Amino acid sequence: MPVAELSGVTKRYGEVAALGGISLALERGELVALLGPNGAGKTTAVRILLGLARPTTGHAAVFGQDPASRKARLRRGALLQVAKVPETLRVREHIELFSSYYEKPLPLAETIAAAGLGGIENRLFGDLSGGQKQRVLFALAICGNPGLLLLDEPTVGLDVESRRALWARIRGFVARGGSVLLTTHHLEEADALAHRVVVLNHGRIVAEGTPQEIKARTASSGLEDAFLAIVGQSEEMAQEVMQ
Ligand SMILES: Nc1ncnc2c1ncn2[C@@H]1O[C@H](COP(=O)(O)OP(=O)(O)OP(=O)(O)O)[C@@H](O)[C@H]1O
Ligand SMILES: [Mg+2]
Repeated sequence: MPVAELSGVTKRYGEVAALGGISLALERGELVALLGPNGAGKTTAVRILLGLARPTTGHAAVFGQDPASRKARLRRGALLQVAKVPETLRVREHIELFSSYYEKPLPLAETIAAAGLGGIENRLFGDLSGGQKQRVLFALAICGNPGLLLLDEPTVGLDVESRRALWARIRGFVARGGSVLLTTHHLEEADALAHRVVVLNHGRIVAEGTPQEIKARTASSGLEDAFLAIVGQSEEMAQEVMQ
């Protein structure tokens, strides 16, 4: 049974086809990077796996359960693109509160260490820097000891050092058997972390493979060049279909 699965999923918002029929399965211990231009449908796919949006057609499951179910929620953690938590709670209080939602949370000290929050656990969230806030949000994603992490652009606004530190934490999570679905516009990040890359454009999967395979397919040395070539080709094909 896949950890997370989308099977023939479409999602329409009125006239907009956010997802045009995608199938994707995430295995245990696997990190899949979901790439695509703005508006490609990445966040929509993540929201469906979070049970925040329902597929228009097709099927979604998390650990074989309905993504909106309590069972799925208890085994999943998420860091969303636009996340808001109260400014006037302390770091430690946020983690304690979130941990209380789960049946088998990590010990507080472990979450603090795993998110690199040692020394700032008694600060108010509102007093933290942007990068420190992002670390707290990562702590909230992992504190329930989930098997699946959904990370929607987790390193936006982080300095190079903080980004690398977060990569190390994500790798640690995967090394312990966790599965991750990651969206990012940093192609270097996908190259560094992903076992498998899935490229979306206009709600459809236009390429899929290891970072090496994706690069080899377009004879590109970097994943960024490969990505641009793939998205460019898929645009041309879409134009031809329309003519
Ligand atoms: N709640 C909504 N109502 C209407 N349209 C929506 C809604 N959510 C997403 N869309 C549309 O669906 C499409 C896909 O959006 P989505 O947020 O999934 O893209 P994305 O790949 O995450 O983009 P980005 O890289 O900018 O985060 C866009 O055209 C967007 O405007
Ligand atoms: Mg998005």
